Amino acid sequence: MTSGNIVYPGQVEYVDNLLSETDGLMFEMESFAKLKSIPILDMQSAKFLELLVTIKQPKNVLEIGTAIAYTAIRFARNLPEGGKVTTLEMSKGNIEYAKSFISKAGVESKIEILEGDALKIMPKLDKKFDIIFIDADKEDYLKYLELAVDLIATGGIIVADNLLWHGNTASKNVAPNYEKTTGIIREFNKKFASLPGFKTTLLTIGDGLGVAHHLGDF
Ligand SMILES: C[S@@+](CC[C@H](N)C(=O)[O-])C[C@H]1O[C@@H](n2cnc3c(N)ncnc32)[C@H](O)[C@@H]1O
Repeated sequence: MTSGNIVYPGQVEYVDNLLSETDGLMFEMESFAKLKSIPILDMQSAKFLELLVTIKQPKNVLEIGTAIAYTAIRFARNLPEGGKVTTLEMSKGNIEYAKSFISKAGVESKIEILEGDALKIMPKLDKKFDIIFIDADKEDYLKYLELAVDLIATGGIIVADNLLWHGNTASKNVAPNYEKTTGIIREFNKKFASLPGFKTTLLTIGDGLGVAHHLGDF
């Protein structure tokens, strides 16, 4: 998602310029998503996730909501040898765009798209994931979290985007068309912030990025 009014626009602009995208394909994907009005991850948040992958060196990453594979490709490019991204998407149109960009990036062997509703696919997954990224329909965020907790590997990291929901979750004046989803994200945030067995923080980059580190089995 692109940046809302979460931090001062001048500061966002400064950091965006500092980190400005130099990769041709990523730049093309950002322009394509804008043109087609497909929400993709904010660039600053995407760069943070790349960093997380380079630090964590995950064998298995799960993404809930592929869109055009903007973040999936960034994940794939930074994986260790033998690492894999499993990404879930139910929009047929987005799946076609994603496949085409994945092939353009040459990372077909590192990304598997599972087509369909994440809520139906997740309970059937039979492996654990070192990083799980929640970024699909906000109305189902609490359900994704419950399923993600079951699928996270010991010491793994759960990340969730849009936790400041364009500024609405922290605002007293929520736009009427955001009321329902804002209520859901607020409930998600409370649960996420005190997730048993995890150490959690919420970063005010992009649209608000939550990060929860599984502290291991007790
Ligand atoms: C914000 S976009 C994902 C952006 C992507 N993660 C990125 O970083 O560029 C959300 C995507 O989730 C998909 N989606 C929403 N609900 C879903 C569900 N229940 N199962 C699978 N995909 C879903 C939408 O079709 C959309 O493509």
